[in-house]
Amino acid sequence: MTADLFRLDGQVALVTGASSGIGQASAIELARAGADVVVNFHSSQDGAKETVAGVEALGRRAVAVKADVSQEAEIAALFDACEREFRSPDIVMSNAGLQRDAAIADMTIEDWNTVIGVNLTGAFLVGREAIRRFRAKGMRAEVSRALGKLVFDSSVHQVIPWAGRVNYAASKGGLALLMQSLAQEVANEKIRVNAVAPGAIATRINADERRDNEAKMLELIPYGRIGDPADVGRVVAWMVSDAADYLVGQTVTVDGGMTLYPSFRGNG
Ligand code: BGC
Repeated sequence: MTADLFRLDGQVALVTGASSGIGQASAIELARAGADVVVNFHSSQDGAKETVAGVEALGRRAVAVKADVSQEAEIAALFDACEREFRSPDIVMSNAGLQRDAAIADMTIEDWNTVIGVNLTGAFLVGREAIRRFRAKGMRAEVSRALGKLVFDSSVHQVIPWAGRVNYAASKGGLALLMQSLAQEVANEKIRVNAVAPGAIATRINADERRDNEAKMLELIPYGRIGDPADVGRVVAWMVSDAADYLVGQTVTVDGGMTLYPSFRGNG
């Protein structure tokens, strides 16, 4: 075991959707803590290159691997690439996600299927493959007390209903019980499964909203600022470290207080 429980030296991390936003920041924070990183991307090879450069600037190794997380065969290939380049992962962050917003009467089956396919089915596929590979890898007691660490990137919308985004909220609500049920299933093997639930973080997913509506968004955040991707990345790096070895089946909400429902302050 490493003396500094917050360090991830000698470990391999695989992060999906790591070409931008929270995935990119998490990849970099995992590297800062000492991990080598597989940078998965879907469409932005340039973004993935940027992440790889960020990891390498910290003296760690990184490789970019293209895969669509909603496709079973591509997930197997992604983990195979991880094994080929480094070894089986010690840490997996299932992060890839998207929104296709529409009022209910206008929401198409494509809007529904795309969001459920990436955010929920993708999490299932990545989580399932992570468990298989953790088991095959076996314990590496010299680097961690856990056999494997799996973190899902959820959202405050796993608990906050969201009008005009029923597909997204349903995917994140489903992810909450996927995470807890899987954590219950594998905890006795020393596999830690948890989720991070970000609030409003400055990424591409809400860029239009921030441009048009930032003042209104800030009313939802008692802490008074939109989050930075690294605010989440630093928490993820802690969650997968041995400093958080007893964190099992939990959602860590990183939201500047959004889930405190600030509109109830002096009201209700
Ligand atoms: C969404 C963002 C939104 C935030 C807070 C996230 O899960 O992807 O678009 O700004 O939740 O509402």
